[in-house]
Amino acid sequence: MFLFMFISTICLSATADVCPCDDAELCLPIQQERDFEVFVFDVGGNAWRSYNWSIVTTVAAFGKYDPDLMCYAHSKGARVVLKGDVSLAQIVDPGNRTAWITEKVNQAKTQFMDGLNIDIEQAVEAGSPEYHALTALVKESTEAFHREIPGSQVSFDVAWSPNCIDKRCYDYVAIAELCDLLFVMSYDEQSQILGDCIAMANAPVSQTIKGYYQYLDLKIDPKKLVMGVPWYGYDYPCLNLSQEGVCSIEKVPFRGAPCSDAAGKQKTYNWIMKQVNSSMTGRLWDQQQQAPYFNYEDQKGQIHQVWYDDPDSICLKANLVKTKGLRGIGMWNGNILNYIDEAAQQQTTMMWNALVQC
Ligand SMILES: *[C@@H]1O[C@H](CO)[C@@H](O)[C@H](O)[C@H]1NC(C)=O
Ligand SMILES: *[C@@H]1O[C@H](CO)[C@@H](O)[C@H](O)[C@H]1NC(C)=O
Ligand SMILES: *[C@@H]1O[C@H](CO)[C@@H](O)[C@H](O)[C@H]1NC(C)=O
Ligand SMILES: *[C@@H]1O[C@H](CO)[C@@H](O)[C@H](O)[C@H]1NC(C)=O
Repeated sequence: MFLFMFISTICLSATADVCPCDDAELCLPIQQERDFEVFVFDVGGNAWRSYNWSIVTTVAAFGKYDPDLMCYAHSKGARVVLKGDVSLAQIVDPGNRTAWITEKVNQAKTQFMDGLNIDIEQAVEAGSPEYHALTALVKESTEAFHREIPGSQVSFDVAWSPNCIDKRCYDYVAIAELCDLLFVMSYDEQSQILGDCIAMANAPVSQTIKGYYQYLDLKIDPKKLVMGVPWYGYDYPCLNLSQEGVCSIEKVPFRGAPCSDAAGKQKTYNWIMKQVNSSMTGRLWDQQQQAPYFNYEDQKGQIHQVWYDDPDSICLKANLVKTKGLRGIGMWNGNILNYIDEAAQQQTTMMWNALVQC
């Protein structure tokens, strides 16, 4: 045991000394605070080279660790933060919790990263041991990161509404208080369909806005809230497409609801922009949900309905970031635009611009 600890300590300090950047200064943690957050989830690969770095402030690195991304982000004054996910049952034990946090801090330090994005989407019952453990995890992680990596940022991903969405009954008020910011995942809003089992928008405008009012009604500081918008949509095979264009979908239950968006498949904006051109309807706009959609027929003759977000629907939501003075905006995820085809350049630029200038 002692020998193992000794060896791992040596390994840690050995790697920690080697800065992979051309300029060793780029391995210092980002300390500067910017007024407006543009929070990007990156899932790996090279797309980050094409991001609009004049606006990006934080990259949550959910892919494999990429030292080039870290060096580049730092050269632009942007933070790179680790992903944090752990089974809550295992961190009810305080010793286990501390061990997990220590591991994350060490990992961030050896990789010259600037914080942690806690992405726990597990179902939790209010008042349960897991409920309290989660709050403690956020508190202790934030304290450890702030102490060990000056200027670091600890964020926590929450559902579009604090009302026990997907049975995630967390102590949202305490969690918001105890970390630097909440990334509000304003998408997958049809994860629990209680009414008609039909295809609907991933993130309808009025429902999305209602979610923010619910967070604000809890007296959560607007400066703790980053709006998350989807750069993807849902493709639903229709059991039946009515005359009025209503697409009924298969009943796939989720966390207590009889029907859910799991009846569809998530598709990237890149895929959607190609598919809309060969669709039956072209881009349609739903007045009530304020979202674009279209219908297409696949090679087997099956009709599909695709719901998604584009600069128009994103702008309607992004306006709230300004009017309510939220901390910023971000997306799931940065990778899924078309950064390759010359012809798609404008479409890609418009998606980035919709985040900050509507
Ligand atoms: C601590 O975590 C380990 C896995 O890392 C797990 O096997 C163990 O059951 C946990 N202990 C407690 C008391 O929760
Ligand atoms: C399917 O759509 C057609 C056309 O709108 C409608 O007449 C019919 O009742 C629908 N069938 C079912 C099972 O919903
Ligand atoms: C789709 O069609 C539009 C308008 O004709 C065109 O500008 C765009 O490049 C096309 N997109 C793709 C991905 O083919
Ligand atoms: C980056 O975003 C800013 C703000 O929207 C915009 O002014 C600028 O043109 C964008 N840069 C590129 C290369 O698209």
